[in-house]
Amino acid sequence: MAEPALIAPSILSADFARLGEEVRAIDAAGADYIHIDVMDGHFVPNLTIGPGVVKALRPHSAKTFDVHLMIAPVDPFVDAFAEAGADIVTVHAEAGPHLHRTLQRIGDLGCKAGVSLNPGTPAAAVEPVLDLVDLILVMSVNPGFGGQSFIASQLDKLRTLRTMIAAQDRPIDLEVDGGINAETAPLAIAAGANVLVAGTAVFQGGPDRYAANIRRLRGS
Ligand code: DX5
Ligand code: ZN
Repeated sequence: MAEPALIAPSILSADFARLGEEVRAIDAAGADYIHIDVMDGHFVPNLTIGPGVVKALRPHSAKTFDVHLMIAPVDPFVDAFAEAGADIVTVHAEAGPHLHRTLQRIGDLGCKAGVSLNPGTPAAAVEPVLDLVDLILVMSVNPGFGGQSFIASQLDKLRTLRTMIAAQDRPIDLEVDGGINAETAPLAIAAGANVLVAGTAVFQGGPDRYAANIRRLRGS
């Protein structure tokens, strides 16, 4: 029997006026990773948070800070997010021509390195850099906003990547992000995902519901 999936609540759906409290609440409710969505209004059509906010949140939880950078260019900001306390720094394969160098830099900074693939990007895009990667993030919506519907065609990509990962001699997380709820979580897990990002489905109902929402997604 496979391990239960890890849950990475996306704080994009949290109350931004009480972000520290919200991070403490999802930590106490059983979150495995704290997923932090960074958007630049250029690579994606939305603006969210910068390294200063990550730094301010760091004392609120000892859990893994899973920082998803939806920014281009990304290289000028990698050091700042590492210094702010990111544990995993994930960059988009589409964000620039120097993915290999970016991943090397993330590793040199002592962080785990992730690569994210948009729905229109094939699994093969990550193959040449697999030796540098600790996490692959499959976008199951087009990045930019919470609350969108799961794109089912991404399940095939998860299956392809799970096979690719199985051929490696070290563990690589396979994370899925976008439209994950009680209906889509089991599909993503069956296709090979072991880390589920969820914003809407974790934060709905307010803090009293967070623990139950997380348990429901984990499928344990
Ligand atoms: C989308 C972000 C996601 C998003 C998930 O660009 O990367 O992390 O917030 O939100 P839900 O779970 O609401 O689809
Ligand atoms: Zn994300």
